[in-house]
Amino acid sequence: MTRPTAGTILIGAEQIQARVKEMAKQIQADYPAAEDLHLVCVLKGAFMFLADLIRGMERSTTVDFMALSSYARGTTSSGEVRLLKDLDYGLQGRNVIIVEDILDTGLTMSYLQEILRARSPRTLRTACLLSKPSRRMIDVPVEYIGFTIEDRFVVGYGLDYAEEYRNLPHIAVLG
Ligand code: IMP
Repeated sequence: MTRPTAGTILIGAEQIQARVKEMAKQIQADYPAAEDLHLVCVLKGAFMFLADLIRGMERSTTVDFMALSSYARGTTSSGEVRLLKDLDYGLQGRNVIIVEDILDTGLTMSYLQEILRARSPRTLRTACLLSKPSRRMIDVPVEYIGFTIEDRFVVGYGLDYAEEYRNLPHIAVLG
């Protein structure tokens, strides 16, 4: 199968693993072991991040999944968001962390936080592996950020371009 080369490595696999372990420890330290912790993974891009994040935690945690479509135009978000798959479980009274792959304009996350907040979680925080602050169109609170990157379209470690490259263990700039 031919496909465009995924270009230069921006963040290596070992660097990702080390940072995600750190994030797992930080989250663990922020939530007393006696309290519940419920992670909401945004499909599909965050599946690998979630898998490593929960394996880095030595505490009980539950997970659920949702899928959104951001009506993307090419490689940029249009700001309109559609719920493709809802959560299996309610959030009322729970400590919830949204687990997302990348924060770009922030429009998708802003929408997501709004709909999840309406479900009355006890606390709601957000963990993003990557953030492109220069692209932000809306101020959105994100408590845990793995890496801050420049305005480049990146793939790998769950992130795709036209459904390709999700299996790369590193983050690469599409070239
Ligand atoms: P936002 O609404 O502009 O913040 O877009 C967020 C979504 O756009 C992410 O969840 C990704 O699905 C997608 N996205 C934004 N930038 C990239 C990128 O560099 N690579 C892959 N997907 C991206």
